[in-house]
Amino acid sequence: MGTIAPTDQTGFDAEFNRRRYNHSVTQTLPQFWARFGGLPDVAGKHVLDFGCARGGMVHTMLEAGAKSACGIDINPDYIAFAKAKHADQWGDKAQFVCGDIREQSLEPADIITSCNVMEHVLDLRETLAALVNHAKPGGDLFIGFSPLWHSPFGHHRLIKTRRPWAHLARGNRAFLDRLVDDEGNSPETIQELGFNGATPADFRSSLKGLPVEIVSARRNVATHPLKQIAMKALLLPSAFSALEKYVTIGIYWHLRRTK
Ligand SMILES: C[S@@+](CC[C@H](N)C(=O)[O-])C[C@H]1O[C@@H](n2cnc3c(N)ncnc32)[C@H](O)[C@@H]1O
Repeated sequence: MGTIAPTDQTGFDAEFNRRRYNHSVTQTLPQFWARFGGLPDVAGKHVLDFGCARGGMVHTMLEAGAKSACGIDINPDYIAFAKAKHADQWGDKAQFVCGDIREQSLEPADIITSCNVMEHVLDLRETLAALVNHAKPGGDLFIGFSPLWHSPFGHHRLIKTRRPWAHLARGNRAFLDRLVDDEGNSPETIQELGFNGATPADFRSSLKGLPVEIVSARRNVATHPLKQIAMKALLLPSAFSALEKYVTIGIYWHLRRTK
């Protein structure tokens, strides 16, 4: 009988993490920057990436010439992976912090980035304020997030359905009831699963009073021309404010700290 290879959970996780990391660096982040019209000039600058996960943005920024880059995330497993992955290549230029940005006092950044995190952040206003506080006056913030909860597939495909907006039926129960644990219990709220459920209006109001100017604020940005037409067409009903949340898939803010 041949030897059976050990099916060790750690090995499986490591392989999964590597695949997700590669996907982020080769797919998600190039798309993110294309939606802002390309990478900003990061040469010689210090970058802070909020919700860095496995550190793909930190790597991207250092490859683009940043002087140093720091990633922060609340998930300790991601931070452990990010530290191990980048130590040899970048040494001290890459830093990773596990924690809540509201409780940190990190080196002020010339550029702050955040990709696909804000739709998960529960204390949006305080977190955004802490993030802006970490930018140098005149520093730029590139914050993009998608898909928003109320958009056609805002459940991040955690359930299998081809029907747009299906997850919102019965006050989100259509979604929650399909996510049962071993005891047959389902979550009470989408917040337990890491979705804040914020609407475009909530995101706009979370910026009020912060020392930032809006350099650009775009919605439903795609890079493929046909997809871009479809995404913009979807926005037409947002002329009726009650419908805006259902047709806004993604928001891309370029902000600048004023003082
Ligand atoms: C969808 S992932 C995006 C990861 C990465 N930015 C990318 O685009 O590949 C969302 C990340 O945000 C992190 N996150 C969620 N809420 C957070 C918070 N309040 N503070 C820091 N990180 C948070 C999660 O742990 C997760 O790593």
